[in-house]
Amino acid sequence: MIVLKLGGSVITEKDRPETLDGRALDRAADAVADAEGDLVVVHGGGSFGHHHAEEHGVSTTDGTRDADGALAIHGAMTTLNRFVISRLRERDVPALPVHPLSAAARDDVARLSLPTAQVATMLGEGFVPVLHGDVIAHECEGVTVLSGDEIVTHVASELGADRVGVCSTVPGVLDAEDEVIDRIEAFADVADALGGSDATDVSGGMAGKVRELLALQRPASVFDLDGLDAFLAGHEPGTTIDGG
Ligand code: IPE
Repeated sequence: MIVLKLGGSVITEKDRPETLDGRALDRAADAVADAEGDLVVVHGGGSFGHHHAEEHGVSTTDGTRDADGALAIHGAMTTLNRFVISRLRERDVPALPVHPLSAAARDDVARLSLPTAQVATMLGEGFVPVLHGDVIAHECEGVTVLSGDEIVTHVASELGADRVGVCSTVPGVLDAEDEVIDRIEAFADVADALGGSDATDVSGGMAGKVRELLALQRPASVFDLDGLDAFLAGHEPGTTIDGG
């Protein structure tokens, strides 16, 4: 089984609120339609979720108890999810939505609870579950953002994914000279290039992503839209991150 993340900035126009990058989404949907085997798709927020999250001061750690704010963020994400699902359905991909707000939660020390039985059962029945970054209930915070990246790592380890793919706006993890790093097996190898040797990465930038993917214990690839077909065909475009 493959878990594929479509970065929000790949499928939306990041600088224009709630604007789809229709061409990019079509390319991604074409690639998914050609893929064989079990696939879980997760998409990010891009100009849909982040715009509203910022407006309401909501992040993965700072929450809100304002239901209108929560609904604005969730509503933008479900709108984007409907676009993704409909482009997939146009290509006969048996895609079904899974909305984290309805099922996930974080406790007061930010431990994530996200059931995956529905995802596993959908896969068993031949569907392609499509999850998305969302707001979720968070003990002592109201609601906070659950990023697509967190969903990817959670679902991949809970369901034992064989491979993980992160389709991003860059062709891979870049070194200090902006060249794609072919393979990363330990964070120490790339700490200098990524400029993130600290234990935390609040910005959720590439350093944080690499750490999470190294911890996954299954091979993950970071690539751009040009690499998506190759990844889904079983190749390793971009950067392969394998913590062993
Ligand atoms: C963000 O998800 C979801 C919301 C803002 C509600 P991600 O953090 O995974 O989105 P991208 O891929 O970076 O846009």
